[in-house]
Amino acid sequence: MWLDPGRGCRQADEGQAAISWGKASKTYHAAKRLQRDRRMRGIGLDIRFEGAGVSFGARVALQPLTLGISGKRMGIIGLNGSGKTTFARLINGLTKPSVGRVTVNGRDTSDEKTAVADVGFIFQSPQNQIILPIVKDDIAFGLKRRGFSKAEIEAKVEGVLARFGAEALADRRAHELSGGELQVAALCSVLATGPGILILDEPTNQLDLKNRALVEGIIAGLPESAIIITHDLELIAGFERVLLFHEGRLAADAPATEAIARYKEIAA
Ligand SMILES: Nc1ncnc2c1ncn2[C@@H]1O[C@H](COP(=O)(O)OP(=O)(O)OP(=O)(O)O)[C@@H](O)[C@H]1O
Ligand SMILES: [Mg+2]
Repeated sequence: MWLDPGRGCRQADEGQAAISWGKASKTYHAAKRLQRDRRMRGIGLDIRFEGAGVSFGARVALQPLTLGISGKRMGIIGLNGSGKTTFARLINGLTKPSVGRVTVNGRDTSDEKTAVADVGFIFQSPQNQIILPIVKDDIAFGLKRRGFSKAEIEAKVEGVLARFGAEALADRRAHELSGGELQVAALCSVLATGPGILILDEPTNQLDLKNRALVEGIIAGLPESAIIITHDLELIAGFERVLLFHEGRLAADAPATEAIARYKEIAA
């Protein structure tokens, strides 16, 4: 894929985020309260693309597009290199638009120096995402950077592992984990910090049937809003909204059945 950001990238993103968040901890806690309130009132996140597009030099990765995202689940499909990951990276600010703008809850991602903290991102290759050797330390990493106390961190690490029935992973070495265990560990690391929205970039690639079912079940049960990029069409088959990208353009924005049918025409 494009350039999976590698181990250092999350560290850099997290580290930079922590520096700016540390300085603005009041803003952080206020934002968290707002997020919690919104969730309790059942209000999802409000993401808007306004003529937002991305070019890398002369190469157009994503043609400018305008749309809003507010529901609980959304799928993204399309051929390799069609712009799916680029689109998703615009949402958490890892990629800034070359034209137009993207806002998350009213905040322009171009004004954020780092990744948007309320958007958790599971990369295409989760092994590149786990940066510390022991799973529980990796989960604690983002929490430490956000200034939580030792007791709070311990409770949150235990809580997120328990949420996925993954307590046995706590002391495991990340490089020894199977593909499915790695996906779960990456989910724990990202969800521990409480993002309101989760982007999963091909969460079932490389998984066997059993681990695929595990990850599918986890996604189905997530109370967080989730955007799922996938080549595994069954994973998004029931979704009310699926975006289809083709050659950097939005080719369909429709219920799964319609978007998948159009995708099959394109791929034929
Ligand atoms: N940092 C970059 N520099 C140059 N070109 C890039 C960069 N990131 C993406 N691209 C190009 O933009 C296009 C879209 O890439 P993107 O990663 O969004 O595709 P994708 O739909 O996620 O593909 P895949 O299914 O293979 O993951 C591709 O042609 C890719 O080569
Ligand atoms: Mg991709």
